[in-house]
Amino acid sequence: MYVPPKASYREVLNDAVQKGYAVGQFNLNGLEYLQAIVEVAEEERSPVILGVSVSSTKYFGLDYLVALANAAKLKAGVPIILHLDHGPDFDFIMKAIRAGFDSVMYDGSEHPLEENIAVTRQVVEAAHAAGVSVEGEIGRIGGTEDEVSVDEREAMLARVDEAERFAEETKIDAIAPAVGTAHGLYKGRPQIAFDRLEAIHKRTGKPIVLHGGSGVPDEDIRQAIALGVGKINVNTESQAEFTRVVRKVLAEKPDVFDSRKYLGPAREAIKEVIRKKIRLFGSHHRF
Ligand code: 13P
Repeated sequence: MYVPPKASYREVLNDAVQKGYAVGQFNLNGLEYLQAIVEVAEEERSPVILGVSVSSTKYFGLDYLVALANAAKLKAGVPIILHLDHGPDFDFIMKAIRAGFDSVMYDGSEHPLEENIAVTRQVVEAAHAAGVSVEGEIGRIGGTEDEVSVDEREAMLARVDEAERFAEETKIDAIAPAVGTAHGLYKGRPQIAFDRLEAIHKRTGKPIVLHGGSGVPDEDIRQAIALGVGKINVNTESQAEFTRVVRKVLAEKPDVFDSRKYLGPAREAIKEVIRKKIRLFGSHHRF
């Protein structure tokens, strides 16, 4: 059974950019995460995107993830969009679409531009035929900040002319350009290339997706949204809070063995992380 979201990825992102807010992508790392994300989305009347990494599809199974998302979609009055994050190749992405994902990201950023364009275009043709939206990536978004030199950093950033060609030739619905953010925890303040972000949005006309949203200062988030970011991915901050609370409960009550006794408080705690992001992104009271 496929349950469509109340509005598609493409519709939600276009609405966001038009009205000057961004929709949050929060990772689906288990049932407690799903419940926290969906409860807050309902309370805040906000659309949300459930991000699923490839490693999570392997850990949980595509069928369980789709069934969980369907249950949430049927229950919620706001758009709940099931999204494959960093899809590695055409075949894997087709499996996710057949299983019932609403939108997919193809990450061809490690390949030469020509190849990235060719595969992304192929994914878009097949996905759009099935009513599924597509996010493409250009430039290289770092795994962690590490000790990246200025030259290396510059080489990783997306180029405006390449982004323009990429968007035009692939017909993607949203573009995730490397603009200086990274997945995971930052050692210092991330250096976001705002001028490039703005130019890529203007030249492509596409909603911009900001990966590595954890740890980015609030004022940088607001500026990025003002320049064309319509979707922001957050995972590490929720995971860190979830695990902090599990550790705290187990340390305070070493005799606990009922897993609901530590997973429940963790679920409550990440609701506040998600709520803060939704309000910062301005996606509340939209549906
Ligand atoms: P963080 O884990 O740094 O928030 O990044 C999430 C992300 O970009 C997933 O694609």
